Amino acid sequence: MDIVTIDGPTSSGKNSVGFLLAQKLGYQYIDSGSIYRAGCIFILRKQIPLEIKEKIVEQFMNLQIEVKVSNQSMRFLANGEDVTDHLHDGDVTKIVPIVAAIRQVREATRLIQQKLAQSKNIVMTGRDIGSEIFPNAKFKFFLTADVEIRANRRFKQLVQKDPAVKYEDVLKDMQERDQQDSEREVSPMRVPKDAIVIDNSNLTVEQTVEQILKQIYAQS
Ligand code: DC
Repeated sequence: MDIVTIDGPTSSGKNSVGFLLAQKLGYQYIDSGSIYRAGCIFILRKQIPLEIKEKIVEQFMNLQIEVKVSNQSMRFLANGEDVTDHLHDGDVTKIVPIVAAIRQVREATRLIQQKLAQSKNIVMTGRDIGSEIFPNAKFKFFLTADVEIRANRRFKQLVQKDPAVKYEDVLKDMQERDQQDSEREVSPMRVPKDAIVIDNSNLTVEQTVEQILKQIYAQS
């Protein structure tokens, strides 16, 4: 089975690129960030304090994830419930870096990721997919873009929902998240040693996918 891994920082376009690439290859697309986010939805719903690590880990050990594609969009089911529309809720986004930094949460999530990739060709996006989860993947990519450009992409999405959002705040949040993801002790974000790095600061999603496909065909 072939696995294409795409790692990179927040708003580097991983999700749009991963989704379109998977469609073009006829592979299943899985965004690993959504697994961490889905677990957080249940943690919030059950009002589990972040200090009680055993309870947090338990949520991930019992988390059942299914990914379905319906009407050209990916639907994410957690414990049988379609949670897609809540994955990016503000309270989820706030706690997910803290939860994702817990070693046992990452171990439980690794098993979920491996199970999802069983007997299927997949494209998986995340922070540590090429380095930790599938170090033997056939094709590894690392997407990045200037932080100002990534902040601007996120700002444009957020301002549609809330016109009071300020670009400066989005930029500051993004710089903090980059720091949290790359400086955490457990599985920090890094460029996998044999990954191809693509800076898509000046590329559209389609152009980025074209570049990736060129590399895949050249290596096949
Ligand atoms: O890509 P995202 O914003 O949905 O990721 C949400 C959080 O999960 C972010 O803080 C990084 C973390 N994450 C991770 O640690 N490892 C992954 N493979 C994917 C996401």
